[in-house]
Amino acid sequence: MVASLGYVRLEMQDPAVWAKFGKDILGFGAGKSRDRQGTKYLRMDKAPFRYMIEKGEADRFVAAGYDMGSKTAFNAQVAAFEKAGIEVTHGNERDSKRRAVKGFASVTDPSGNLVEFFHGRDKQEPFTPGHGIKDFKTGKMGLGHLVLPAPENKATIDFYRKHMGFGVSDDLSLPAFAPGMPKQRIYFMHADNPRHHTLGLYNFPNPTGVIHLMAEVGSMDEVGYCMDRVKAAGLHIFASLGRHSNDEMVSFYFFAPGGIGFEVGYDGKQVKDWSKFTPTKTTSGDYWGHEYDFPMPE
Ligand SMILES: [Fe+2]
Repeated sequence: MVASLGYVRLEMQDPAVWAKFGKDILGFGAGKSRDRQGTKYLRMDKAPFRYMIEKGEADRFVAAGYDMGSKTAFNAQVAAFEKAGIEVTHGNERDSKRRAVKGFASVTDPSGNLVEFFHGRDKQEPFTPGHGIKDFKTGKMGLGHLVLPAPENKATIDFYRKHMGFGVSDDLSLPAFAPGMPKQRIYFMHADNPRHHTLGLYNFPNPTGVIHLMAEVGSMDEVGYCMDRVKAAGLHIFASLGRHSNDEMVSFYFFAPGGIGFEVGYDGKQVKDWSKFTPTKTTSGDYWGHEYDFPMPE
């Protein structure tokens, strides 16, 4: 079973822009360079990095990197995929070094999302976030959460549950965007840590490859100050401040450079004992707020 979300990979035409955004708006810090391809590495905590921004031809999300927690668990995950007939690609030494891990492998989920999983993250050094942020809520809960496009909805849910051991947290259905369209569904799952959900699967595609990424801070003021920085930078806020009903996170959403959906939140629910948790089925995403404002397509 996956321990936590360890890193994410993005591809940007100009990685420096995203790195500057990470530092100036989010309070992330620069990690040391690990290749000669202009990749930018961003830190949030003691981990060597949490975001890897590679130079590419498009602005898009590339992959999630899941920490298996041990080499034994990593090997068991490889064996489980192989037994299920899912093709596993093993990462080489050079690419492992770029990810600051001892070993990793990758698979593709039924909706086409690239999934990496690893063991043995490099030695960790202290890190202090910027903008007076005390700590990002990370550690064993991982870097935050992500919601991925999963148009092959049932098969993708089954993939993460049956083959990677994710547990169900909440099955949210929302009204269709327009008459005649299917209902929206976000299926929230947890890994082997207290964060209410590490992964969400949304039943529609997205050109950026991700619905949103989430970073959690430790106070309401830190969310508020970040919102001011987002506004001052002229980034589009697509959901106003609000509190979610499933993970009880107070957050807002905006478009990071490259059109990447980003949520900054506080006060997310932690479940200490998943064996005592009953998965929920909900029809409303929020207690209050989160008024959506999506720009009309050009
Ligand atoms: Fe979220």
